[in-house]
Amino acid sequence: MSQFQTSVDLSPTWFAAGYPLRAHNTFGFDVRARYACRVENEADLVAAVRDPRARGLRTLVLGGGSNVVLTRDFDGLVLLVALCGKRLAREDRHAWYVEAAAGENWHEFVAWTLEAGMPGLENLALIPGTVGAAPIQNIGAYGLEMAERCDSVRAIDLDTGTPVEFDAAACRFGYRDSFFKREGRDRFVITSVTFRLPKLWQANAGYADLARELARHDAVEAPQARAVFDAVVAVRRAKLPDPLQLGNAGSFFKNPVIGAPQFDALAAREPQIVSYPQADGRVKLAAGWMIDRCGWKGRALRAAAVHERQALVLVNRGGATGADILELAQAIQRDVLARFGVALEQEPVCL
Ligand code: EPU
Repeated sequence: MSQFQTSVDLSPTWFAAGYPLRAHNTFGFDVRARYACRVENEADLVAAVRDPRARGLRTLVLGGGSNVVLTRDFDGLVLLVALCGKRLAREDRHAWYVEAAAGENWHEFVAWTLEAGMPGLENLALIPGTVGAAPIQNIGAYGLEMAERCDSVRAIDLDTGTPVEFDAAACRFGYRDSFFKREGRDRFVITSVTFRLPKLWQANAGYADLARELARHDAVEAPQARAVFDAVVAVRRAKLPDPLQLGNAGSFFKNPVIGAPQFDALAAREPQIVSYPQADGRVKLAAGWMIDRCGWKGRALRAAAVHERQALVLVNRGGATGADILELAQAIQRDVLARFGVALEQEPVCL
């Protein structure tokens, strides 16, 4: 995005070899990278990967580092994405199109859109991480996925060094999934995202926790976007640990989706099971509920623990390693499989 780039040709900032990544992953794992380079614009990014120091090395893009489990030192080049800028790119009768650079903090961006009178992202308030990370796992919460507001994604193709625009269909969004998490993973680095925010706004306040919180403030009937934003912030603060205080990567597992026959058999055995019917006839299960039922909530394996208020979140109580977290995750997966016959898939990317 040219308006975000400096006109002077400054080279990107390289850090000393053995760069500590502790402050760059929300679990707070104490690992190092062979090289790290801070990139502030697209030209920086291309220069960094073409630098002789990067030759033959793997690259890892870190924005907020909020969806990654770093199990060991990274023997490659870490790109610290620091592209900044946000603007109303255009508007028509139906929608505002807002573009934000990849390095922008997600929550601050959401707050900015609301202050500018452009609602539509309020359900996604307080999700840790950056704008550039949002499409990779198609962040979602309280009845909204980022995919529903995505107009396009701009990325640098590392093979050619050129920018490519992906429309929403090309991003192949799925539940906590996208092209960028799969086929495009090592090839494309997202530099900006454009959101389409419809002018005909309607509160999306059906999610149980959210409706309950709005009811506490007598704001159930036609709540304003700001009220939804505040309610989401309150619910998240009550349930989810702040990564700055307790290292974590949000939900550690995806909510599994199973076929109707399997669900019927399971529900006959476990009548309390929390489930959400899907449009395609399948059924999504609340992994947090199943983990909780297996007795894992609040339990620890060394310094790796299951959060006390949300069993879907694994936390670093201080000094845990990525390997500790994975060992804990595997023990949970074994128990859930044994009791419910359902395999839990890990959500964050593991390196
Ligand atoms: N539950 C329990 N015990 C627990 C946790 C949950 O019984 O320890 C029950 C809850 O009472 C509720 C159900 O399980 O009936 C679902 O729990 P919740 O509403 O907290 O949501 P979730 O399915 O656990 C998902 C997302 C979250 C998102 C919330 C709200 C995934 C993997 N997780 O969690 O996303 O904030 O819904 O929309 O889809 C994230 O992806 O990092 C994340 C935090």
